[in-house]
Amino acid sequence: MTWYQEWFGEEYLELYSHRDENEARQQVSFFRDQFAKVEGRILDLACGTGRHMQELFAAAYRPVGCDLSYTLLRTGVKDYGAMPVARADMRSLPFCNGTFAGLVNFFTSFGYFSTEDENLGVVHEMARVLDKGAVFLFDYLNVHRELDKLVQRETRQTPTGSVAIERWFDPFDRSFNKRMTIGQKRYLERVRGYDLDEISVMFTSSSLSIRDAFGDFDGSPFSRSSPRLILVGSKLS
Ligand SMILES: C[S@@+](CC[C@H](N)C(=O)[O-])C[C@H]1O[C@@H](n2cnc3c(N)ncnc32)[C@H](O)[C@@H]1O
Repeated sequence: MTWYQEWFGEEYLELYSHRDENEARQQVSFFRDQFAKVEGRILDLACGTGRHMQELFAAAYRPVGCDLSYTLLRTGVKDYGAMPVARADMRSLPFCNGTFAGLVNFFTSFGYFSTEDENLGVVHEMARVLDKGAVFLFDYLNVHRELDKLVQRETRQTPTGSVAIERWFDPFDRSFNKRMTIGQKRYLERVRGYDLDEISVMFTSSSLSIRDAFGDFDGSPFSRSSPRLILVGSKLS
């Protein structure tokens, strides 16, 4: 099993319990400020439990979720009720070309695969399922800030115990790695760090045109010290 098949379960939900509905509400509000009305369905790619989907519904959008984790999707149904979701791998989306009028990808749900072709393939899939003129919001880590502020070791407390976390950057494949040790269990999180220029090349090659780059959900412009890299734009053709 690969890291992303193992990690996105109960322990992930505990460690990231602060990534909650309140945060999702603020992020969806930012989406609304950017795009106001979107006629048609919006794909929440790697929707997790669907915390953004329920906020999108509340804001009168029509989201459809897609995620690989059965545990996260099931938790979403338990917490928020039934929602339109597909369990699928983002490298091969189970939707026809041009299905969606919008796409959101929140909280660093990109760069998970070990080859450049696979990560680029995800961008192609995003573009493929978008209709011409469809909008997107892509919320990703800021490599510069992550490198500057990398905390190599820390221990976090969760309701069920402590989690020892080790972080390192691998210059060979330019990945940010995080190892979580929870009791006897060990999990890995591994994200290929793409900078704005690299992402721009990938998106442009798929006709995804970037209109703006923000550094946070407060609308501040992107800089090397920003907490996030948030791209908004639309599909050209
Ligand atoms: C950091 S979480 C973010 C979840 C959600 N966007 C949020 O903000 O709560 C990353 C998500 O990507 C999903 N994921 C991981 N690998 C995937 C894959 N190969 N295909 C589809 N989804 C995947 C995980 O199950 C998880 O829900």
